[in-house]
Amino acid sequence: MPKLASLDDLLVHELQDIYHAEGQILKALPRMVNAATHPDLKDAFMEHLQQTEGQVRRLEQAFELLGIPAKGKKCDGMAGLLEEGRKVIEAEAETAVMDAALIAAAQKVEHYEIAAYGCVCTYAEVLGYDQVHELLGQNLDEEETTDQKLTVLAEHVINQEAVEGEFELEGFERRSR
Ligand SMILES: [Fe+2]
Repeated sequence: MPKLASLDDLLVHELQDIYHAEGQILKALPRMVNAATHPDLKDAFMEHLQQTEGQVRRLEQAFELLGIPAKGKKCDGMAGLLEEGRKVIEAEAETAVMDAALIAAAQKVEHYEIAAYGCVCTYAEVLGYDQVHELLGQNLDEEETTDQKLTVLAEHVINQEAVEGEFELEGFERRSR
């Protein structure tokens, strides 16, 4: 851990953490796209892949505005979350259940990012870095929207199919709903 003498130091430290995290997510998302079955989920992951590329560019702009090199520091938290996601992909599962598991893994990642961007947004605002605050706020908005989309997909499509698949498998009649 570097010396954190000021809120500026903490902002830089947290930006380096999320920059590294976004880089790891960029590498992991194609695996999520491949592992997903439902076309809406595949689309959601693909869209987020493109969004993430834009988020990385915004972070690079933020580093530039702050006059420091765009450099990441290994984000162990994200590495752990993505490792869990990798294990999920390797599991044997019914397709709809796998989709539900992928959504769970992705939402854990989103919640980490929402927390991270929420903090750096506040620091940038308090420190008066308006442009940096604006850029980070855009990333935060995108993460929140992605999280909400995944919730909608999970509630209305995927989990429903996962339950129905299970009932078919076990020979029960489907519950009317
Ligand atoms: Fe992101």
